[in-house]
Amino acid sequence: MEIAERRRLPSDRAMWQDVTRALSEALGRHEVPCVRGRGRAFVAPISGDCLGGAHAGGDGVRVIVLGGTWFVGRAIVAALRAAGHTPLVVHRGRAEPADLADVEHLHAERQSWPAHRDTLAAFEPGAAIDVSAENGAGARAALDALPSGIRLIALSSVDVYRAYEGMLARQLTDAVPLTEASALRTVRHVEGPHWENLELEERYLAAGAMVLRLGAVYGEHDYQRRFEPVLRRIRGGRTVLPVGAGNFLFSRVYVGDVARAVLAAVTSDHRRHGCFNIVETQTAPMGLFYAQIIAAAGADLELVRVSDEVLPADLRASAAVGQHLLASGQKARDVLGWRDSDPQEALRRSVQWHRANPPKDWDADFSGDDVALRTL
Ligand SMILES: NC(=O)c1ccc[n+]([C@@H]2O[C@H](COP(=O)([O-])OP(=O)(O)OC[C@H]3O[C@@H](n4cnc5c(N)ncnc54)[C@H](OP(=O)(O)O)[C@@H]3O)[C@@H](O)[C@H]2O)c1
Repeated sequence: MEIAERRRLPSDRAMWQDVTRALSEALGRHEVPCVRGRGRAFVAPISGDCLGGAHAGGDGVRVIVLGGTWFVGRAIVAALRAAGHTPLVVHRGRAEPADLADVEHLHAERQSWPAHRDTLAAFEPGAAIDVSAENGAGARAALDALPSGIRLIALSSVDVYRAYEGMLARQLTDAVPLTEASALRTVRHVEGPHWENLELEERYLAAGAMVLRLGAVYGEHDYQRRFEPVLRRIRGGRTVLPVGAGNFLFSRVYVGDVARAVLAAVTSDHRRHGCFNIVETQTAPMGLFYAQIIAAAGADLELVRVSDEVLPADLRASAAVGQHLLASGQKARDVLGWRDSDPQEALRRSVQWHRANPPKDWDADFSGDDVALRTL
C-alpha cells in the first residue's frame, strides 16, 4: 500500500487501495486474532522441572515452535503431535485456545527470548520452526535464543517476490509461475514499518535455515476470514453476488498442507538451507474461487459480473489484476517430498468450519451490493 501511495495512482486510486488492502490482508498482514485464554493449564514460564515430561519424545523430534497458537502455528503443533514429535510452544500466553494440542509452553515476549536461552537448550531440541518472526528483529531475537546445531525452519510468504511489488504498483514485472529463483522485491516494508519477510529470510538463511514461502493460507481457525466476503452473503440470504473481472491468480495453500510441509522439513534428509514455495498445485482465478466456495457451501448464490469500479469494498479482490502472484511448489515436491492435499476436500473442510464458526460481529449490510447491481 505504501507503493500505491507513493506512486500517486490515477482516479481509481481509492478502489485500487481497497484491492491492495484485500490482497495484502490475504498474505498475512493482520491484527491479532480474537483468541484468548480459556483456563487451560499451562507452564509459564517453564523451568527445568516442568520440562521433565516433555523429554519422553520416543523416535520423534523435539521441536521448538516459535508462535504456534493462532492459526498456521496451531495446525503445525497439532500435526507435530499427531506425527509423534514433541513440540515446545513459545509465545506470550495471550492466545491459549482450549483445544490446543497438549504440549509444553514457554510464555515470553519475543524480544526477551535470548534471556531464556538456557531454558530452550534444556529442552534439547532437534529443530525449531519460527512461525511468527515478522521482521529482522524478530528473527534475530529467536536466533539469539536458540541452541546452535539444530535444524531451523522459518515461515515467510510469496510477498517477497518482485511480482508482489508489481501487483501493488499495477506494473507487469514477472513471468509466472514464480519459482524460488524469481526476482525479489526491490522495495521494502510495503506493508508498513513493522513487517518485512525479506529481512527475516536474510537472517534465517544466513543461519542455515529452510525458509518456507507460503501462498495465501486458508483453513480452520483462519482469523483473516478470507471466505467471509462470500459466506456472509450466503448467511444473509442473498441470491446474487456482484463480482468483477475475477481473473487474479493468487496461489493459495490449505493450512493442513502448510503443517505437512513443516513436518517434511523437520524430517527431511535434505540438509541444505534454502527457500521453498509452499503453494497449491493448481490455482483457480479469484472469480472461480468464489464459485468454488459457494459450491462447497452447497449454497444457491449467483455470481453476476459488474464493473470493477462499482464493486463493494470486500469484493474488490475480484477486480482485474495484471501482475499475477502464481507460484510453483515444484521444488518442495521434488526436494522435500511434500504434497498438497485434495483441493476439493480441503476447501470443503475449511468452508464447513467457517460456516460452523461465524464471526460474532459479522457484517449484514449489503447496500454496496445493491448499488453495484443497480448499475446493470
Ligand atoms: N495467513 C496467511 O495467508 C499467510 C500467508 C503467508 C505467510 N503467512 C505466515 O504465517 C505466519 C503467521 O501465522 P499465524 O499468525 O497463524 O501464526 P501462529 O504461530 O499460529 O500465531 C502467532 C503466534 O505468535 C505469538 N506471538 C505473537 N506476538 C508475539 C510476541 N510479540 N512475542 C511472543 N509471541 C508472540 C502468538 O501467541 P500470543 O498471542 O500468546 O503471544 C501466537 O502463538 C507468518 O509467518 C506469516 O508471514 C501467513
